[in-house]
This record gives sequence, structure tokens and C-alpha cells, in this order.
Amino acid sequence: MASTVEQHKRPGLSPGAATGARITASVYTSHVPAIGAALDLGKSNDPYWQPLFKGYEFSKEWLKENTPDVIFLVYNDHATAFSLEMIPTFAIGCADQFQPADEGWGPRPVPVVMGHPELAAHIAQSVIQDDFDLTIVNKMNVDHGLTVPLSLMCGQPKAWPCPVIPFAVNVVQYPVPSGRRCYMLGRAIRKAVESFDQPLKVQIWGTGGMSHQLQGPRAGLINKEFDQAFLDQLIADPEGLSHKPHIDYVREAGSEGIELVMWLIARGAMNDRPPRVVHRFYHVPASNTAVGHLILENN
Ligand code: DHB
Ligand code: FE
Repeated sequence: MASTVEQHKRPGLSPGAATGARITASVYTSHVPAIGAALDLGKSNDPYWQPLFKGYEFSKEWLKENTPDVIFLVYNDHATAFSLEMIPTFAIGCADQFQPADEGWGPRPVPVVMGHPELAAHIAQSVIQDDFDLTIVNKMNVDHGLTVPLSLMCGQPKAWPCPVIPFAVNVVQYPVPSGRRCYMLGRAIRKAVESFDQPLKVQIWGTGGMSHQLQGPRAGLINKEFDQAFLDQLIADPEGLSHKPHIDYVREAGSEGIELVMWLIARGAMNDRPPRVVHRFYHVPASNTAVGHLILENN
């Protein structure tokens, strides 16, 4: 029976097939709503913001030269699309477009995010059959967790350079997923992309972090040593890093530092060869947050 099924398989569906989709690179960046406001209000050359935006000059040029067909953007929603009434651990945006959310001061004046329903549905199918529970979302507004990384990497275009599949991870309401689960999910996403029967170049972005805490007696916490060690290990030993327990992030990088587990999804989706480190940047502070940024290309 199995051989009959094989015979009817369309060509190009096997993992890694030359004609299929592939992940070319991963991008990592922090998000902070104030970065979006600084751009939208024309303050990016102010002395406070200039050093931050300078760190993304290279990245904007790199993205222009390496525009993918699709960006798979891992981010967290901040009680914007999902209220505390319903919180999926992992949610994949399968709609054909996503509106910028109103986070209290009106929606950011940024382009609508165009989706890629076909690839999103394929990834959902593959990853769910691989035993990861995803929530399928067919209507969703996207907050600063998604739009600020796009703004940092693209500036202020009339339209975003390519379709984006939003992938929301719950790092807001406990319990949150472990770094290990995120890393293994990244590997399942890689397999899913590589079995898509169209020759698409796909980038995967991991966003949020780095160290920051917005609440309680430790509000304002920044830990540069932790952040730099995280970047080093993310590049060189993601498998080892994936075993870091959740409590270490909270203790060392602050309550919102747990956003960093999302970077492990993107890293897990890269191939097993050492990546090319195309760009690395670190800056403190942006609002209450340490900003980290990496671009890794697959070898
Ligand atoms: C800030 C950081 C965040 O991650 C966030 O979601 C909101 C605010 C900040 O540093 O101000
Ligand atoms: Fe956040």
C-alpha cells in the first residue's frame, strides 16, 4: 500500500528537493513600541534614537539585496489580538492580510501586512501532523511585536517588501512554552517549508527580548552579560541553549526577557551547518529594553 501512495506523490514534495521552498536566512531583533513611535513621529535622528537606528542601516540594505519571497515572522502578541479570555500558545496567521492593531493610540501608520495563506496552511498541516499544536487564525490584527521588527528592517515603505506569515507565541500569560519546545518547533517548521512544492525563498525572523522587565521592584532590569552570552550561544550552540530552563530567563533577563525563547524557533529552523553571521548589533537602552539584533545566513 505504501508504495502505491509513493507512486502518486507529486515531484518536489520530498524534504530538501531542489525545486521546493527553502529557508535562506534568519533575522533576530528586539521590539519596543517606542521605536515605532520614534519612526512614525520623525524622531529617528534625535540623539537618543540615532545610535539605535544606525545599527539597522546595514540590515535595511541587506534586506533590499536579499528580499525573500516570504517572511515567517515569529513574534508575541501583547493582549492585542488575543485578550486574556483566550490565549493560544502557538498561533499561525493563515489570512491573506493582517491589519496593524490599535494599541491605545490608534493603529500605527504602516502598511497592511499581506499574508501567504497557501504556505501558512501547508506549514500548519505539516507541523500539526508532526505533533505540535498550532491554533489556526484566519483573522488577526498585528501589534508592535510584529510591526516594529518590520519597521526596523524595512524603514518606512509604502508596502512591505513581501508577504509575511505571522506566528504568535504566548510569552505573556503563564505557563509559557519552554526554549526546548520552541527550538524543536523551529525544526518542524524547517521540515514543513522544505516540503512545500514551490521554489520560494523563505526567511524566518525571531523577535522580542532581549533583557527587560517592565513591572514590579526589578522594573528597568538590563543584563548585558546575559544578553551577549545568549547571542554567542544562539550562533554557536543553539542545541545547548535550547535546554536553558524558563526560570533562568526570568531571573537573569527579567520577566519580559522570556520573549527570547522565540529566537530559538527561528534558530531551530536553520540548517545544521554553522551559519554565516552577517550582522550583529547590541544597544542599551531603547525605552526599558536592551536591543539585540542578528542576521544569520544558511551555509
Ligand atoms: C517595552 C518593551 C516591550 O517588549 C513591550 O512589549 C512593551 C514595552 C519597553 O521597553 O518599553
Ligand atoms: Fe514585548
